Amino acid sequence: MAFPTIRNRRLRTSAALRNIVRETRLTAHDFIYPIFVTEETGVKAEIGSMPGVYHWSLDLLEQEINEIAALGIQAVLLFGVPDHKDEVGSEAYGNNSIVQRATRKIKEWQPELLVVADTCLCQFTSHGHCGVIHHDERTGRTDVDNDTSLALLVKTAVSQAEAGADIIAPSNMMDGFVQAIRSGLDEAGFEHVPIMSYSVKYASAFYGPFRDAAHSTPQFGDRKTYQMDPANVREALREAESDVVEGADMLMVKPALAYLDVLRLLKEQFDLPVVAYNVSAEYSMVKAAAMQGWLDERAIVLETLLGMKRAGADIIITYFAKDAARWLQDN
Ligand code: PBG
Repeated sequence: MAFPTIRNRRLRTSAALRNIVRETRLTAHDFIYPIFVTEETGVKAEIGSMPGVYHWSLDLLEQEINEIAALGIQAVLLFGVPDHKDEVGSEAYGNNSIVQRATRKIKEWQPELLVVADTCLCQFTSHGHCGVIHHDERTGRTDVDNDTSLALLVKTAVSQAEAGADIIAPSNMMDGFVQAIRSGLDEAGFEHVPIMSYSVKYASAFYGPFRDAAHSTPQFGDRKTYQMDPANVREALREAESDVVEGADMLMVKPALAYLDVLRLLKEQFDLPVVAYNVSAEYSMVKAAAMQGWLDERAIVLETLLGMKRAGADIIITYFAKDAARWLQDN
């Protein structure tokens, strides 16, 4: 019998050998942890469809923030759950609105922790859309109006930067949002604040649990006139390209798991850092199965996050950040 000339198993013979040839490594530094902040007081309320994820009121948040920082997580992504919504999402850009107040507090408690502000209107509008609704009398067509929405998104971004946000992350998918927000920030003297653009954001069913958590389900229609068709990948390149030209500093792909091909492509085509958003339903699916005892949560989560990094993610936004950071410490 001839011996195999190539033996790939040689480098797998011991844990140390496997470790020394490992190509991809996860660390807590890779993660951004999303946090939902509410106006009330005395609230730490678990989100039904996202076990282990909470609504936090600011009076209870300090210990949580300290814990996050102690785990080596370098950034949090803030989502506001306001107590007042209106047609134009006024609470998104109020100086004393929830995200702005939370930002100030967090920068006071943990000045080194990066605060990433999600810049969108959907949690703040009564209709739940990411911009302003316009009804065209001539055609009877109702849709989110791009350019009037831009002005409000710029206001939102500037107020977030004024509150001390380190990174602006616009997730609204209006055309020209990066350019508009970049010039708004620059005019206000925040030319040093980077934009992490939700460049390639698909109209996805994977945001379901988030919309429960953020109370941001559209009250009519869907987001398909502004978020992308899951079938398209060449269009993802156009979205990313326009954001690069408009001045984005980082490019995001969202959701992550069903779109790792897109993530990979962006990594190959552009030289900006690429961010993967491991979204709410990707979290809930694993949690639900883990609670049934159907899978090994820790192994599944670390393998999944590693897969995102291997596919090209420089940064991963994940609700598993705290758990994963703890597990990586034990490893
Ligand atoms: C706001 C926004 C959404 C998510 C992040 N920012 C919801 C949406 O577009 O409907 C989803 C995040 C998640 O599912 O974890 N536009």
